[in-house]
Amino acid sequence: MSLVAACGESPDPGDDPRADPRDGARVALGARVYAQHCAACHGAKLEGQRDWRKRLANGRLPAPPHDESGHTWHHPDRMLFTLTRNGLVPPYAPEKYASDMPAFASKLADDEIWAVLAYLKSQWTSADVLAARAEMTRNAKENR
Ligand code: HEC
Repeated sequence: MSLVAACGESPDPGDDPRADPRDGARVALGARVYAQHCAACHGAKLEGQRDWRKRLANGRLPAPPHDESGHTWHHPDRMLFTLTRNGLVPPYAPEKYASDMPAFASKLADDEIWAVLAYLKSQWTSADVLAARAEMTRNAKENR
């Protein structure tokens, strides 16, 4: 899938301070925004929709988990921000890609989007995931 292909290409760092998972106030705001705007599709516990890898009858993909079982954590902060703000449009999805993921630019302030990301990141705690994200950030900085 295109989003996965985009994984290794992004030169963006994975640790934007606006999505700092150690900032309790931002995480709390993000949890509220998530419950209101994301949980219906991505799951109250970030578990995603059932059989999320299997296309629906209409050819679209279900909502993936945002917990460590998904691939959200493979992506740098800036890319997650852009995906949430603009939806699945170029450069991270093909032209005219059909998806149920809404664009949140008209519904959420940029700061609320960053807060949601802080919340998602606060749920990524396993050593493997944290090490992979730290490496992503290091590589991004070297390639800048
Ligand atoms: C109406 C259902 C729906 C809502 C509400 C929704 N999403 Fe999604 N989201 C999806 C679907 C479906 C996909 C996968 C689309 C695809 O791959 O074609 C997706 C994909 C994503 C991705 C890409 C994940 C990846 O690993 O590539 C991100 C990031 C994301 N959503 C964040 C959010 C956030 C943050 C919110 C709340 C502010 C939200 N979504 C609300 C349905 C939804």
